[in-house]
Amino acid sequence: MSEEWRGPIATMRNGWGGRDFPHPAGRRRLLGDLPQGMDPRTPLQNSMARCRDLGPIFEMRFLNRRIVFVQGAALNAELCDESRFGKTLAPAVSNLRMFVGDGLFTAYTDEPNWALAHDLLRPAFTKPAMVTYHDTMNEVADELIERWERADAPVDVSGDLTRLTLETIGRTSFSHSFGSFEREEQDVFVSSMIRALTHGMRRQAIMMMPWGRWVVGRADRRAQAAQSVVDDMVDGIIADRLAADDNHERDLLGLMLHSAHQDTGARLDPLAVRRNVVTFLVAGHETTSGALSFALWFLATHPQVRSRAQAEVDAVLAGEVGGIPSYAAIARLRYVRRVLDEALRLWPTAPAYARTPLRDTVIGEGAGVGAPITMTTDDWALIHLPLLHRDRSVWGEDVERFDPDRFLPEAVRRRPAHSYKPFGTGERACIGRQFALHEAVLVLARLLHRFDFEADPGYELRITERLTLMPEGFTLTPRLRTPSTVSTIDQ
Ligand code: HEM
Repeated sequence: MSEEWRGPIATMRNGWGGRDFPHPAGRRRLLGDLPQGMDPRTPLQNSMARCRDLGPIFEMRFLNRRIVFVQGAALNAELCDESRFGKTLAPAVSNLRMFVGDGLFTAYTDEPNWALAHDLLRPAFTKPAMVTYHDTMNEVADELIERWERADAPVDVSGDLTRLTLETIGRTSFSHSFGSFEREEQDVFVSSMIRALTHGMRRQAIMMMPWGRWVVGRADRRAQAAQSVVDDMVDGIIADRLAADDNHERDLLGLMLHSAHQDTGARLDPLAVRRNVVTFLVAGHETTSGALSFALWFLATHPQVRSRAQAEVDAVLAGEVGGIPSYAAIARLRYVRRVLDEALRLWPTAPAYARTPLRDTVIGEGAGVGAPITMTTDDWALIHLPLLHRDRSVWGEDVERFDPDRFLPEAVRRRPAHSYKPFGTGERACIGRQFALHEAVLVLARLLHRFDFEADPGYELRITERLTLMPEGFTLTPRLRTPSTVSTIDQ
């Protein structure tokens, strides 16, 4: 077992000065808060059901391990203060270091490769870069639309949107096509990645079992075998680019291979390039396909929201050549964007981030936690985003109601800072936020323009957890809209 992926968080005591926090009912002396009779594959949803009334900060113990969660907006705002707190790696994230080491997502902020990759790769996420990705995003959306036009049975929404987002990140950032729409079976990259992510999430739980250290070795070997499939594929992409003698920094891969830091001249070494290619392929598609899938679920089950979104799309795309949105048109799709924002409020697809203080400190004054709480550099808290986004003091009593108008500019201005955090916070916030939002609004608009959606009346939303959240078994019947409801489709 290499030190690299064990990670310091495993050694953090998380003692919180001996203070106990509220915990769910039914704690058992040895097992702690392991849920009885609840599905062990859905820890996040279990904690939502059991802990939402426990106040701004609560804890769960699993055997001898304690996890402290923050769900209160005021307390989260404090933990988002970058002068006092920074990112640490939750166990499920630090477990991924066995696959991607100090890649951008899994690096500790003080590791040199974090700052280097962050500085070198930022140009790939500026507005001029987004403009260059726009046509490719439309091309991939065309392929999805063609697939759904041909469909003679309900479509697998999350599966097809995963094809779309993987293809988009592959083509825009690595000039590589996975051919995702050319075959029926799941891409081997996706299945291997899912195995690795699921392993990352469950590894901690396995380790805590009495026989865990024995079992985990076998599970690690299986996950590593899956990872070597990913590594081989990524090495192939890198080798092809190097063999093409193409030294341009025209995409993310070009930047990784050929750019040097403007102050220090430092470059990413080959291992760091591989780790970051894998990081971006994974981070760049899984969360966005989940966000799109949840948005379509809400649209399919809220006809009035869908009609309003379609009216906006029809109006905006009526002025666009062939009904295809230009780059500038995306910013005019304000209601569609609000649909997405609200879907990410209820189901933030990267559902947690971990914070630790830079120096020993005291938190919680005026945050409804009783006496202020001492937090040392040995303590860390996990911000529980689905519960943060349901804090009634911020969002009102009807937190479960899907209402995109919560994101009207005046409503956003009225809300306290840091109450909505689907893309994380501070310098470690999501580097791909604009990419994801541009892609998702574009795709939703294209789908709403072309199709009406009929949800299966017998389906109730089920959610798979594998570090990210994704609707499970969600199918839709897309029906072509008629010319009388859409004026620009066949121009
Ligand atoms: C709806 C889609 C997305 C969501 C909800 C999302 C969410 C997040 C969150 C919450 C974090 C911070 C995690 C933490 O603090 O531990 C993060 C970081 C990150 N995201 Fe995203 N993300 C999305 C799309 C993307 C895309 C499209 C890309 C790349 C093209 C991307 C690349 C990354 C990377 C590399 C980081 C690590 C950044 C750093 O630590 O410097 N994400 N994302």
